[in-house]
Amino acid sequence: MNVDVLLGLQWGDEGKGKVVDVLAPDYQIIARFQGGPNAGHTLEFEGRKHVLHIIPSGVFRNDCVNIIGNGVVIDPIIFEKEIIGLTPYCPNIFKNLIISKRAQLILPSHRLLDAAYEAEKGCAKIGSTLKGIGPTYTDKISRNGLRVGDILSPDFHKKYTELKEKHIQILNMLKFEYKLEEEENKWFNSIELIKKFSLIDSEIEVNNLISKEKKILAEGAQGTMLDIDFGSYPFVTSSNTVCAGACTGLGIAPSKIGEVYGLFKAYCTRVGSGPFPTELNDASGEQLRKTGNEFGSTTGRPRRCGWVDLVALKYSVMINGVTGLIMTKADVLNEFDEINAAVSYSINGEIFENIPYDLSQNIIPQYKIFKGWKTDISKTTSKSELPLELKEYIKFIENFVKVPVIMVSVGPDRKAIVDLR
Ligand code: GDP
Ligand code: IMO
Ligand code: MG
Repeated sequence: MNVDVLLGLQWGDEGKGKVVDVLAPDYQIIARFQGGPNAGHTLEFEGRKHVLHIIPSGVFRNDCVNIIGNGVVIDPIIFEKEIIGLTPYCPNIFKNLIISKRAQLILPSHRLLDAAYEAEKGCAKIGSTLKGIGPTYTDKISRNGLRVGDILSPDFHKKYTELKEKHIQILNMLKFEYKLEEEENKWFNSIELIKKFSLIDSEIEVNNLISKEKKILAEGAQGTMLDIDFGSYPFVTSSNTVCAGACTGLGIAPSKIGEVYGLFKAYCTRVGSGPFPTELNDASGEQLRKTGNEFGSTTGRPRRCGWVDLVALKYSVMINGVTGLIMTKADVLNEFDEINAAVSYSINGEIFENIPYDLSQNIIPQYKIFKGWKTDISKTTSKSELPLELKEYIKFIENFVKVPVIMVSVGPDRKAIVDLR
């Protein structure tokens, strides 16, 4: 059985948590492959809202095993908070959640470094979530990192201290003021909680499950435009958010990838700094933010809003080999008279149909205008009930990127989904 992958095609927050929760009953395993507590994946059901950061979004489905893969970075303190919040709803969590020994640990000093580097950048700051993501992946790549498996080693404290000392040298060089002791105590307490979970060689487990014909869904975090290689560099995160990241972040061979579900909002948002060609700094942008409740799930920051960018979407579909598109938050456009979709970019008077190397140039998006449906679609459950104008909007997107839209999400609840297949 091949592994299906679900990931974001824009700048994150496409509704991955919600859709993984919707699809989870079809799978026996949900596995996160990259990112860490910078992610905020929201699930809503039975009148309650849950936001997950490190834990995969299959955790509320009792029969699902959830794997935190080797590509993920874990902050033990945030992990503990998440577990405590989930225990009343997921009584089997200690059995149903397993963690790769190869996942990297975020130290309290990684978080300090994140803040110090951002402060150093001044106006050019990335707008990081300040969870220590960049410095932790930096240590992984420079072969200095601490891994979950290290917590079982007798010289774990020594390894921790050596890495912390390296960080302190940098913090002192940057003249960054800090306090560490309290956070360190909490961190070591949380490490004890991690020890209560199954810490495994998840790449072996995942491949065993594949050979036993188990159905696995790999859950991405962030989005393609935040990918370290293909996103709007340097305003990106520090991992491969694209489909290839599922191979390296779980230990799956490329030949074992099955369906690739690409999520996109019916419009577009971005949180943090960096280029955003279709951004709307006007009443329509404000309306999207208000109707879509566009405030960060992790940091609470207002998200920047704009029209859907089909130039970027086409690029994301290509990089990921998307086999099925899932449009989310279509209901947020209910009230709009007109809906715009960028189909090309004008740069210095020249028209471009592909995304340029430098997205920070003065880009004027060229829009195709669609008639709005002006109907409340949030209770719609079947394809036949969808308004004609929305069907035309979807058809245009399918033809533009040459991949079918297989589902439309029409509200935050797990029931608010229309299957188009
Ligand atoms: P993720 O990071 O991709 O999981 O997305 P987030 O959870 O950060 O942000 C998506 C937000 O939109 C959350 O508040 C969801 O509850 C909400 N949401 C998801 N799908 C829909 C939808 O179809 N319509 C509306 N109105 N809200 C949605
Ligand atoms: P989910 O999984 C939206 C953004 C940050 C910042 C940049 C780098 O919920 O879609 P980092 O903390 O990784 O150093 O931040 O990436 N960012 C996200 N934006 N959704 C996310 O995750 C994000 N994770 C990081 O705002 O611009
Ligand atoms: Mg999010």
